[in-house]
Amino acid sequence: ESIARFLRGMPKAELHIHIEGSLEPELIFRLAQRNGVTLPYADVESLRAAYAFTNLQSFLDIYYAGASVLLTEDDFHDMAWAYFERAKADNIVHAELFFDPQTHTDRGVPFATVIDGLRRAVDRAGRELDIHAELILCFLRHLSEDAALATLEQARPHLNKFIGVGLDSSEVGHPPEKFARVFAEARAIGLRVVAHAGEEGPPAYIWSALDVLGAERIDHGVQATKDPLLIERLVRERIPLTVCPLSNVKLCVFGDLAQHNLAELMDLGLVVTINSDDPAYFGGYINQNFLDTFAALNLRLWHAKQLARNSFEAAFATQERKAAYN
Ligand code: HPA
Ligand code: ZN
Repeated sequence: ESIARFLRGMPKAELHIHIEGSLEPELIFRLAQRNGVTLPYADVESLRAAYAFTNLQSFLDIYYAGASVLLTEDDFHDMAWAYFERAKADNIVHAELFFDPQTHTDRGVPFATVIDGLRRAVDRAGRELDIHAELILCFLRHLSEDAALATLEQARPHLNKFIGVGLDSSEVGHPPEKFARVFAEARAIGLRVVAHAGEEGPPAYIWSALDVLGAERIDHGVQATKDPLLIERLVRERIPLTVCPLSNVKLCVFGDLAQHNLAELMDLGLVVTINSDDPAYFGGYINQNFLDTFAALNLRLWHAKQLARNSFEAAFATQERKAAYN
C-alpha cells in the first residue's frame, strides 16, 4: 500500500548499525572457507537455526563467534560493502557505522587492518553509491576501562578515519561510569560521543551516559519511559534515541512489536530514529524495521516524515550536508 511505498522510497540516515552485525551467514561461511577458519556449525542452515535469542547476552555470544572469520583488510571491506549495497536498496543516504575493534585486536588482527578495510568500503560507498558514511569506534563494556584506553591509544594514528566513540556489548553490570576516563580523553581529542544505554539496563545508565560520558545521542534508550524526569530532560535537550525495533523484539526487550514503546516515545516529543542494529541477526535491514513497526503500531505518514527528519537532525554531519539531504 502507499505508506509502505513511501517508507521504502524516502531518503533516510542510519545511525545505529554494528557493521559486524551485518555479516550474513552466507558471507560468514564464505570468509571461513577463504581463511581456513573452522566454524562450530556445519552449514548456513544450522548457523541460522542458532539465531534464537532470549536476551542480549545470548545474542552477543553468537555475534562474537560470527566475527571470528574476519581476518584480512579485504574481509572488513567485503563485509561493509555488502552492507552498503543493502543500504542503497533501502534508500539510505547517510550511515554511521559502529565497529568493535577489540573483537578483532584481541584475536591478533591489527587495528589498522580493521579500520583500513572498513574505510575502503566507506570511501567506495561515497564514490559509487552516493552514500555518505562515517565510522564510530565502540568500546566493549564487558572488558576493562584500561583495555578501552589501550584501544583509544591504538586508534590515535587513525583519527582522520573515524568521527566518534560509542559503548556497546553486555550492558547490565557495566554502567557507563566504568568508562569515565576513556570518554573524557575521547572528548578532549574532539571525538563525538554516543553510548548504548537503557536497552536492558535501567534509566540510571541513561543519566550517567549523558552526565558522565557526555553522550550526544543514546543508542536504544527505550527504558527511559520508566523515568518521567529523564524523559523531560531528553525532550528539553533534544537528545536523540537510536531505536532498533526488530532488535528489541528478538532480544526479548518487548514481547512483540505491538508492545513496543516507539510511538509513545514519539508522542512524548523525543527525537526518535529507527535503525537496524544487527540486521543479519535480527530479521531485517532498516526498511524492514520501518515496515514491520508501522504495521504493528498502525503509524501514519506524519510518523514517517518525522522519523526521516529526526534521522538527519540526529546525524553527525555538517549543517550544509544536512541541508542537502532535506
Ligand atoms: N547492544 C549491545 N551491544 C551490541 C548490540 C546491542 O544491541 N549489538 C551489537 N553489540
Ligand atoms: Zn546496538
